[in-house]
Amino acid sequence: MQLKNDLLIRAAKGEKVERTPVWLMRQAGRILPEYRKVRASVSGFKELVKTPELAAEVTIQPVDLLGVDAAIIFSDILVIPEAMGLDYEMVEKTGPVFPKTINNASDLDQLRVADAARDLAYVTDAIQLVKKELNGRVPLIGFAGAPWTLFCYMIEGSGSKTFSKARKVLYTDPQMAHKLLDMITQSTITYLKCQIDAGADIVQLFDSWGGILGDNQYNEFSMKYIETICNAITEVPITVFAKGAYLAREKMSSLACETIGLDWNMDIAESRKIIGDQKTLQGNLDPCALYGSYDEIAIQTKSMLNQFGSHRHIANLGHGVYPDTNPDHVRCFIDTVKNFQFNS
Ligand code: CP3
Repeated sequence: MQLKNDLLIRAAKGEKVERTPVWLMRQAGRILPEYRKVRASVSGFKELVKTPELAAEVTIQPVDLLGVDAAIIFSDILVIPEAMGLDYEMVEKTGPVFPKTINNASDLDQLRVADAARDLAYVTDAIQLVKKELNGRVPLIGFAGAPWTLFCYMIEGSGSKTFSKARKVLYTDPQMAHKLLDMITQSTITYLKCQIDAGADIVQLFDSWGGILGDNQYNEFSMKYIETICNAITEVPITVFAKGAYLAREKMSSLACETIGLDWNMDIAESRKIIGDQKTLQGNLDPCALYGSYDEIAIQTKSMLNQFGSHRHIANLGHGVYPDTNPDHVRCFIDTVKNFQFNS
């Protein structure tokens, strides 16, 4: 299927584009009343994720309702721990909770490398439905959590400000840490390949907790596994977004990935200098900027576009859009990118 709007793919590959493509991390979700309506019709988040027809519907909503240049498959990074044998619950207003966690090497015996084709068929079924429904209108982004970020949840059992339990293991049992990270990595590679086979046009790794490690530990416990995944994914362009991983930017420039995501605290010019001109950069407006007035959103968005320049940039926020953001303000951000002309 030929894509009618392939701006995102061309920008990722460093090809010339007529204008900067734009989408938002966490665009498929609570910001839209239309999402909340579908969400209210099921028993919980996981039912939505595991019902391909509904997951497909909410994946496409931001394309129709916001006008973004890409869809991202509605799912969660935590489907991988679950497919490895560690169930999670999504608790209303709290977030994910794992009733069982990984505490020692013998807990690893209870886990398996995920059989993505079998256990995550609900995701690939949803991808196939989305691709059919989109009919080439925009590309579809597949995704997975980076191994380090999934490790954090599997050890800690829930979100945490410090993830100190997960970091503790790096000192007390680094061997176990590597074994688990390796299992997550193998699971993720087959999972991303299944997503690509089903139709994902580009894939993104989310290392949401990359910023809590120092440079040496980031290299050993996160970057190494991201590198393995990037080397294995040769079929479509891949994006790496590691929130807060400032010191990792230089090494990221030699990863086998096309695009590097920046969070809103990463200076654009400095990041470009560190990373060089062989990668596309994605980001990085502060999600809070969308709480400002329309005028202020336009000013901030144009300033961001000018700083990135017209080549090798995918416009996005510096992290996921916050759930209480007004969709009209999101549209203002998107329309500002779409109507922007350089040197105007
Ligand atoms: O981007 C998209 O729109 C696609 C769907 C998507 C979800 N989660 C749906 C979701 C994506 C790409 C994710 C990724 C994800 N999930 C990350 C990495 C990105 C990031 O924000 O750092 C992380 C860390 C998770 C884990 C997770 N899932 C948490 C911590 C929570 C609770 C807090 C929150 O953001 O709501 C979730 C729940 C979740 N995942 C919701 C959605 C739409 C909200 C649940 C609901 O609707 O009931």
